[in-house]
Amino acid sequence: MMAWTDRPYRRMMRRITRHALLYTEMVTTGAVLHGDADRHLARAEETSPLALQVGGDDPDALAEVARRALAYGYDEVNLNVGCPSDRVQRGRFGACLMAHPDVVARAVEAMRAAVPLPVTVKHRIGIDDADAYDDLRRFVDVVADAGADRFTVHARKAWLQGLSPKENRTVPPLRHDAVARLAAERPDLVIETNGGIQDLDGALAHLEDVASVMVGRAAYQMPMRWVDVDRRVFGATAPAPTLRTVIDGMRDVVEDELVRGTRFATVVKPMIALARGVPGARGWRRTLSEGAHRPGAGPDLLDRALATLPDAVLDGVSDVAATGGEEGGGVGATDVGQEGGVVASAAAVSAASSSSGSTRSG
Ligand SMILES: Cc1cc2nc3c(=O)[nH]c(=O)nc-3n(C[C@H](O)[C@H](O)[C@H](O)COP(=O)(O)O)c2cc1C
Repeated sequence: MMAWTDRPYRRMMRRITRHALLYTEMVTTGAVLHGDADRHLARAEETSPLALQVGGDDPDALAEVARRALAYGYDEVNLNVGCPSDRVQRGRFGACLMAHPDVVARAVEAMRAAVPLPVTVKHRIGIDDADAYDDLRRFVDVVADAGADRFTVHARKAWLQGLSPKENRTVPPLRHDAVARLAAERPDLVIETNGGIQDLDGALAHLEDVASVMVGRAAYQMPMRWVDVDRRVFGATAPAPTLRTVIDGMRDVVEDELVRGTRFATVVKPMIALARGVPGARGWRRTLSEGAHRPGAGPDLLDRALATLPDAVLDGVSDVAATGGEEGGGVGATDVGQEGGVVASAAAVSAASSSSGSTRSG
């Protein structure tokens, strides 16, 4: 998710789940090939499995980005066919490509020929008036023939005119039934559903119908809500992380990100949502959000913020810390699935990758 699933956010999520697939923000082919590739692609070792999401329509350029993704150690390349923003439409990629399944198919073929990584596609159930189930199935069939390894379906259509990207994430109704039908009719394909999934119970319910689920906003706004994902979805036996272990785990991240030149406030930003709806949350949020921008702010701010939270919250059982009572804040995307490490959320977000070559997305 643009401006949300940046590298600090992904590194934080990796301290919450070892197994869920995380995604970067969308980066355009132009940004990688003609911009500061290192700024857009530099990742952190420990965030595997990690998918690079790319936006573009030119097969050669996408193949070259896929090669760079391989060189930078990404585990998957995901093509964005879901973003309806004006800027993306002007570039003739994103959701408008749903009207051109052949173009998406050539893009997938080119990327698959270029790298031995899974090549996956994130798309909508439809666009504009091409929103019948048959339109969706035709799109998926054409792209599946080109070898796409997974289809992540945002289960609502997008209107290419008249709605903002934000409205296109709320106004068109969710149609998870269409995605479930697709999965039932195409059992050989890996179909992942996305949209409006709020918690693990909701994710597990969808896993009755589809191979995996992607979680976007709820993974960013309520990160601790997902602390049981490794145990409940991936069969891990280790205890779920506590708020304290997650925060402590971020100390090395803060130091490393500062060495990499990331702004302190950028590293701290996703951490603000760690404590929500729990005693002390207000103080935690205020300490971090006000303190991070002060001149000279540094890692000791974490100690001051930590002091605002009672031990019971820091060390408590996961559901205390995971409750999360409020809306707001940022998000990421994460896929949570039962097979092959899929199933986490759209948690690919980084300050590093959200700048010039990036674009507002949805
Ligand atoms: C701030 C923000 C940025 C987003 N950026 C992207 C993006 O770069 N690529 C993408 O495929 N989806 C993007 N999305 C859409 C989400 O991945 C997801 O499809 C959508 O929010 C619905 O899922 P949710 O209800 O779990 O959030 C973004 C969403 C938000 C809120």
